[in-house]
Amino acid sequence: MGIIQSMTRKRADAAETQRQGRKEKRNSSTAAFASTNKAASQSPSPQSSEVSSVLSEPQQLDPSKLKIRLTENPKTVDPPEKLKFGQNFTDHMLVVSYDPVSGWSDPEIKPYEPLILDPACSVLHYCTTIFEGMKAYIGPDGKPRLFRPQMNMRRMEGSVARLALPPIDGDAILELIKRFVNIEKRWIPNAPDYSLYLRPTVIGTRPMLGVHASDHCTFFLIASPCGPYFPNGLRPVSLLGVSDHVRAWPGGTGGQKLGLNYAPGFLPQKAAAARGYEQVLWLFGDERRVTEAGAMNLFVVVQREDGAGHDVLTAPLDGTILPGVTRNSCLALAADARFAEDAGLGRLYVKEEAYTMRDLVSWARAGRLSEVFCVGTAAVVCAVNRIGWPEGLKELGEEPADAPPKPAPGEGVTEDGMKCGFDGTDIFVETYEGGLGPVARALRTKILRIQEGRETHEWGVVCE
Ligand SMILES: Cc1ncc(COP(=O)(O)O)c(C=O)c1O
Repeated sequence: MGIIQSMTRKRADAAETQRQGRKEKRNSSTAAFASTNKAASQSPSPQSSEVSSVLSEPQQLDPSKLKIRLTENPKTVDPPEKLKFGQNFTDHMLVVSYDPVSGWSDPEIKPYEPLILDPACSVLHYCTTIFEGMKAYIGPDGKPRLFRPQMNMRRMEGSVARLALPPIDGDAILELIKRFVNIEKRWIPNAPDYSLYLRPTVIGTRPMLGVHASDHCTFFLIASPCGPYFPNGLRPVSLLGVSDHVRAWPGGTGGQKLGLNYAPGFLPQKAAAARGYEQVLWLFGDERRVTEAGAMNLFVVVQREDGAGHDVLTAPLDGTILPGVTRNSCLALAADARFAEDAGLGRLYVKEEAYTMRDLVSWARAGRLSEVFCVGTAAVVCAVNRIGWPEGLKELGEEPADAPPKPAPGEGVTEDGMKCGFDGTDIFVETYEGGLGPVARALRTKILRIQEGRETHEWGVVCE
């Protein structure tokens, strides 16, 4: 299409948009964003300034304009036992793009295919990418369900804002995600703990090299059927406390789900694996504050000094912690007296408070460190049995002789008989039959029941 034809079409579209009047749910921030960025993104040619003056408002992200083009070659769905996380993808993808002249394109569900990107585009140089992780489950009624998807959408809007990408309407995106999930329903394995992992992503596509916010972007969604995080049964994992590399810091971006938060973690993760630990435990500051484990939030359950109940503790959302959907759900459940009572957990005292490696050592030595567990969409809840802190004795100002000899994993028995302690290298946490302690197990059971639609709850959202 020539530029004149394209301008004529754009004028006609603009006139049509004006005739139809304003849409009820107008995303005014998109319009404001577009007008402030037009000058930066357009070439100064008379044609483009003419187009921008005709198009007073760019097109909004409109789910009713969804175009669906289904594949002519549907793939064979592997049996559940063959599924490997993030390695097989469904037949289709959802794509919608924004440019500051025309606004949002019509969203499209189309066969899964590679993206075509200009090599100059923002994401390839300045890491302007954000993503979400969600799961769709099949309920007993045969309908697909999402778990608290509005929380993912709000977090996505925040991540996009942090990178100064064009604002995105999470409610409109959620409508599209539900349509996509229904189309890909045959890919959701109908077996306990199996689901369809969804990866909504936004990338900056401004095709210029200047160090500048991207005023173009593309949203896309791909999906991968997946099985339980631990195919051979729930098994506690080991963590290595890391303080020489830092995941997030005050004023940084750890509170958003930006791609650039993850790549720097790969090297420490490899180093931890080489030392025999499964995940990194990110520590922060000279006081070695405990923050997150790998790409999961961390909880500890500490028996109260008077023995009357347990503290359920996680680090506060001070900008260095990702506000996890699972974290929020665990906090809400643990704070609910009926949940604790139904699960026979006694009194739980929920706290979002900073705590340190020194605290962990002292609780472990006192035999009060009842449980440590990671939470996140992928694993839901998984226990930790060992936390490496090789610098621990030095940082505590103790001599190696102060530490008891190294026990076998999970068998560090303290004076009062509890299986936790610190041997100078590792903090041992009590382990339980079946791989999870009572609090972790109750949380996991409840969340999975809601996710799989076995319990009706406002957190379980049916894709209709
Ligand atoms: C750094 C980090 N922390 C925590 C989480 C857990 O968040 P959610 O429960 O929303 O999956 C994730 C996963 O998204 C993560 O990447």
